[in-house]
Amino acid sequence: MGADTAATAATGLVLVLFLVLHLAGVLLAPLAPASFEAYAAALHAAPWLPAAELALVAVGLSHAGFSLSKLIANRRAGNRAVLVSRRGDPVAALAARSQALAGLTLLGFLVVHLLQLRWPRPAAGGELAALQAVLAQPASLLLYLAAALALALHLFHGGEAAHRSLGLLNPGNGRRIRAGARLLAVLLGGGFLAVALALALPVLPAAGELS
Ligand code: HEM
Repeated sequence: MGADTAATAATGLVLVLFLVLHLAGVLLAPLAPASFEAYAAALHAAPWLPAAELALVAVGLSHAGFSLSKLIANRRAGNRAVLVSRRGDPVAALAARSQALAGLTLLGFLVVHLLQLRWPRPAAGGELAALQAVLAQPASLLLYLAAALALALHLFHGGEAAHRSLGLLNPGNGRRIRAGARLLAVLLGGGFLAVALALALPVLPAAGELS
């Protein structure tokens, strides 16, 4: 196993941890809007946040960089095959083939996402209104839905691949790790999809109507 492969796997697992926390935070937006504003205000006031954000940028860029360098090396070596047999498992085959495309989709989404919600960061108490304004634009909503699907596909294959790259997969635990990685992919992708749809639907109270 190359150093690139292990680094891709390790940085990917850190990003998954961030995504679990991120989804837990944004789930509050449709489920408990007032708590969501309080959570966002407390997070933004946390003294450790700038250091955590810098670390996240470093991990995210490393993950993209290591993956791309591995992809380029594989293409140069003429290796275009998906090495694991996926007969009878079309979703797994699609997830394996679209790994790079889904990763690039997520990278493109992130640029737009951060320009919409992080730079500039909404004022205290305005987080939900900013989110609803973003998701009220059909093009934006489509992008969020596409990103959620890309995330589910990326993790469907990536979770298992990461464990294999780190040498953690063996015949005894392979089935459980594969099932767990796939469940997490569906929960994370489905969770972000549901949050985006829930915030875009007009049945929720507008942010200005919160007491
Ligand atoms: C329904 C889907 C999503 C919603 C509603 C959402 C919401 C948000 C909000 C409100 C922020 C700004 C946080 C702040 O004010 O500091 C944010 C930041 C961020 N989001 Fe999302 N997000 C979604 C999906 C995603 C996905 C799929 C990813 C990654 C693939 C992602 C990655 C990030 C990152 C990296 C940040 C910056 C974190 C920071 O600087 O603290 N988000 N998101």
